[in-house]
Amino acid sequence: MASSKMTLFMVILALSFSFLQTQARVLLSKPAPAGFPFPQTQSTVVPDPSPFFASNLLQTPLPTNSFFQNFVLNNGDVAEYFHPYSFRFSNSSLTLSYPTRIATSASVLQNFTADLSISATQNNQQQHQVVSSFSDLGVTLDIPSSNLRFFLVKGSPYLTCNVSNPTALSISTTHAITTLSPNTDRNKYTISLNNNQTWLLYSSSPIGLTNSNPSLITSDSFSGVIRVSLLPGSDFEEVLDQHSSSYPVSGEALFTEAFTLEYTWEKAGNEDLLMLAHPLHLQLLSVEDRNVTVLDQFKYRSIDGDLVGIIGDSWVLKTQPIPVTWHSINGIKDNASIPEIIAALSKDVQAITSTPISITASYFYGKLIAKAARLALIAEEVGSNDVIPTIKKFLEDAVEPWLSGTFAGNGFLYEGKWGGLVTKNGAVDKNADFGFGIYNDHHYHIGYFLYAISVVAKLDQAWGLKYKEQAYSLAGDFMNLNRQPDSSYPLLRNFDLYNLHSWAGGLTEFADGRDQESTSEAVNAYYSAALMGLAYGDTNLTATASLLAALEIQAAQKWWHVHQGDNMYEDVFSNANAITGVVWSNKRDTGLWFAPPESKEIRLGIQVLPISPITEVLFSNVSYVKELVEWTAPALTREGVTDAWRGFDYSLEGIYNKEDALPKIENLGGFDDGNSLTNLLWWIHSRG
Ligand SMILES: *[C@@H]1O[C@H](CO)[C@@H](O)[C@H](O)[C@H]1NC(C)=O
Ligand SMILES: *[C@@H]1O[C@H](CO)[C@@H](O)[C@H](O)[C@H]1NC(C)=O
Ligand SMILES: *[C@@H]1O[C@H](CO)[C@@H](O)[C@H](O)[C@H]1NC(C)=O
Ligand SMILES: *[C@@H]1O[C@H](CO)[C@@H](O)[C@H](O)[C@H]1NC(C)=O
Ligand SMILES: *[C@@H]1O[C@H](CO)[C@@H](O)[C@H](O)[C@H]1NC(C)=O
Ligand SMILES: *[C@@H]1O[C@H](CO)[C@@H](O)[C@H](O)[C@H]1NC(C)=O
Ligand SMILES: *[C@@H]1O[C@H](CO)[C@@H](O)[C@H](O)[C@H]1NC(C)=O
Ligand SMILES: *[C@@H]1O[C@H](CO)[C@@H](O)[C@H](O)[C@H]1NC(C)=O
Repeated sequence: MASSKMTLFMVILALSFSFLQTQARVLLSKPAPAGFPFPQTQSTVVPDPSPFFASNLLQTPLPTNSFFQNFVLNNGDVAEYFHPYSFRFSNSSLTLSYPTRIATSASVLQNFTADLSISATQNNQQQHQVVSSFSDLGVTLDIPSSNLRFFLVKGSPYLTCNVSNPTALSISTTHAITTLSPNTDRNKYTISLNNNQTWLLYSSSPIGLTNSNPSLITSDSFSGVIRVSLLPGSDFEEVLDQHSSSYPVSGEALFTEAFTLEYTWEKAGNEDLLMLAHPLHLQLLSVEDRNVTVLDQFKYRSIDGDLVGIIGDSWVLKTQPIPVTWHSINGIKDNASIPEIIAALSKDVQAITSTPISITASYFYGKLIAKAARLALIAEEVGSNDVIPTIKKFLEDAVEPWLSGTFAGNGFLYEGKWGGLVTKNGAVDKNADFGFGIYNDHHYHIGYFLYAISVVAKLDQAWGLKYKEQAYSLAGDFMNLNRQPDSSYPLLRNFDLYNLHSWAGGLTEFADGRDQESTSEAVNAYYSAALMGLAYGDTNLTATASLLAALEIQAAQKWWHVHQGDNMYEDVFSNANAITGVVWSNKRDTGLWFAPPESKEIRLGIQVLPISPITEVLFSNVSYVKELVEWTAPALTREGVTDAWRGFDYSLEGIYNKEDALPKIENLGGFDDGNSLTNLLWWIHSRG
């Protein structure tokens, strides 16, 4: 439910143009490897990556939900945010902005202003940028006709550009330049603008810069490296000077041990790197494990909270372990409640397993099989083993056709232009399956399938082994860690290793960058993969997926869950919103893709569903849960509010007030399509 009608209309507009471009080219498409468990398709709807990637990269899987996605879609001229700067390529120039933050009760956003634009002075060939390499934490883009190569690395307080051949440069601004002053060696310039910004420009060898007109600086012919940095306060010039000679070229984020993520940057130069950490980094950074220094006062503002300077060439990020369990973490509290759960279970099993699934859409199908799989685990927990064979049979019949390629209405296929699974319907219709064919929402849909597959594999090992290859291929689509160029899938399709949470938007250009709506469905995806590791006895998979789930949870708590007075969002926003709608890399929205800001119960619900044992970890802050439920309460009495959404609100209420929540749950007249009375009774009786 992450996308909506609105997304789909925008997608149509955005992609019809690239589709026209696509037809004019010979497409390079990677074949599925020998023995790959899903058939290959030629998608008619994915955009053509070939204009924007170096030819060697076109043979490898390409990222589809990445921090630089806008640079490789359509004309490649829409900005992306890299902490602390936004970058935009257009007309053979790179523009950087230290964006202005604007908050109202309806949104928090970063406004792009063309603070500085860098280009070659002579550039007759208008050429767009080409990705020459990319890594977990950065991307290198070339403007070949201008001899410019930009190393864009997330969290760098400097923009770094290598001018590979002698070239005269132009640096322009939409503001007015009030000062342009060199140091004596002419390898550092101070550029002051009339918007009160001071920028420092460093060069690897002397450079001659002239203020040609009030908004333009031109250089004499130069080759070498230039770095540009906003001075975040007059006290910090020395810090920027000191670290200006070393620059990051790329960065890897490695899963080294349980609940540990390690960043290592490849750098040029001998100084220690100066990089920026966001608030979640700071919470997780293990200062003891590495020789890093935190510069508490060296700060840039960002939509994700203050960014703080860290000196060091590698970081270790450690998180508390989270429990990944099949059943409720602390068990059913009172045995007297078990008969009530069993009564609901009998009815739900009967109702669900007696009707074959008529839906063919991957998202809704996934929710239905995950709902049925929950019943099997609840049956185990309450000792109602007699219903389990019926559920198992239903799940096997429902899941197998998707894994064996025999499902009539849809199915999974391999798409080789970007490298990933698409649905049969999505391969020919970008609106089908909420844009699954253009890589929207993969972790949500596949997460539900993994949940059901894990439960069947747990119940029936032989079945699990029979479909193991398909199960791992599905998980690999969004959770691949194989960095080899011949891998079928890009590394971690959805998870942003700098931001530390997932994006959902796929191959669609958006003015506000990447986006994700439902954090709980993202958590469900990694949690389900961790359960799959348990089902197959694969401790590595469980460890990796548990770490990703733990990070996604903490990111949700930091950026989606709104706390008053924690210096994350302005009061005007946090006083009016206990939870965000869509989180964008450049914006916090109160609206959803499929509901307006007033639908607070839906805003809450889409950040809660599906309810499972991991929900307890996601909503572990009880004072926050109470604030959220109280904020939503007035909205529940509006006309048209359904019991399907009320159920999620009452479930959260049950975390701190089981007595009031129980009768509300017992009296619900309907449930979300992925939810059931059995599941909510299991939830409420395992609270407290
Ligand atoms: C790029 O150049 C075209 C043609 O000169 C111009 O219309 C357009 O506004 C420019 N784009 C930007 C972002 O400057
Ligand atoms: C947003 O940026 C545009 C230029 O990019 C500028 O004209 C406008 O004034 C800015 N808005 C605010 C509120 O700063
Ligand atoms: C800049 O790029 C050129 C050409 O690739 C390379 O030879 C040079 O070493 C680079 N300069 C620096 C300072 O990294
Ligand atoms: C620049 O700073 C001065 C003095 O603090 C202030 O009066 C002015 O409004 C600022 N201008 C901008 C564009 O922020
Ligand atoms: C690392 O440790 C050395 C020796 O203790 C120290 O001189 C250096 O400044 C440290 N580097 C960082 C990045 O903290
Ligand atoms: C609940 O039932 C379980 C299994 O029958 C039993 O082990 C447990 O002691 C009971 N708990 C209480 C509080 O009676
Ligand atoms: C687990 O992953 C690590 C790192 O990728 C690898 O070295 C190790 O062999 C894996 N272990 C198993 C049991 O697959
Ligand atoms: C829990 O939520 C409350 C209320 O929003 C907040 O004040 C508190 O800081 C949160 N605790 C943690 C550990 O985040």
